[in-house]
Amino acid sequence: MANFTVVDHPLIQHKVTIIRKEETSTKEFREITNEIGMLMAYEITRDLPLEDVVINTPLVETTQKQLAGKKLAVVPILRAGLGMVDGIVDLIPSARVGHIGMYRDHDTLQAIEYFAKFPTDIKERRVFVVDPMLATGASAIAALNQLVNKYDVDANNITFVCLVAAPEGVKALQEAHPDVDIFTAALDEGLDENGYILPGLGDAGDRIFGTK
Ligand code: URA
Repeated sequence: MANFTVVDHPLIQHKVTIIRKEETSTKEFREITNEIGMLMAYEITRDLPLEDVVINTPLVETTQKQLAGKKLAVVPILRAGLGMVDGIVDLIPSARVGHIGMYRDHDTLQAIEYFAKFPTDIKERRVFVVDPMLATGASAIAALNQLVNKYDVDANNITFVCLVAAPEGVKALQEAHPDVDIFTAALDEGLDENGYILPGLGDAGDRIFGTK
């Protein structure tokens, strides 16, 4: 089983409390969601491999470290995942950004991909899939199914990153994709009868884009 990590740095906890508040404005919500994304980027990249590089300082030649290994991709699940991308990419500017959108067919209840565009070499990249809310896990599982089955990405190279997770979603995602690491800023109590996370922060997409 891959790792499940709650990134509970005090700055992150403080910022998550702000975005939970119902009176937080769209502007502030958007800014802080990106800030949390940036702080989480620090943690989700902690295990990136390094290699030695010989450089010259103004004084001497010296052997130092630089990032090695796979290139990175950030893949937001549309649309709420977009809210964390800028913050993450600010910290890892060389990362490419792919997008995936899924909807649930009302009749068949199957998750259908309605949009996907990835870097052409996505298979060779370490992929961070981003969605602020891990509620039932349905959209995360559907997006990861597509990446693994249709686009041939190795699940061991995928990390799922969210802001708020429900235990139900974590369990479902771990069962469906046991090789995918999960990072969240908060682990909440559970889901209500409509599939919203409690205490949660409401509909993340609506709060990021001001559509409600
Ligand atoms: N999606 C959201 O945006 N919020 C929830 O609480 C659950 C799913």
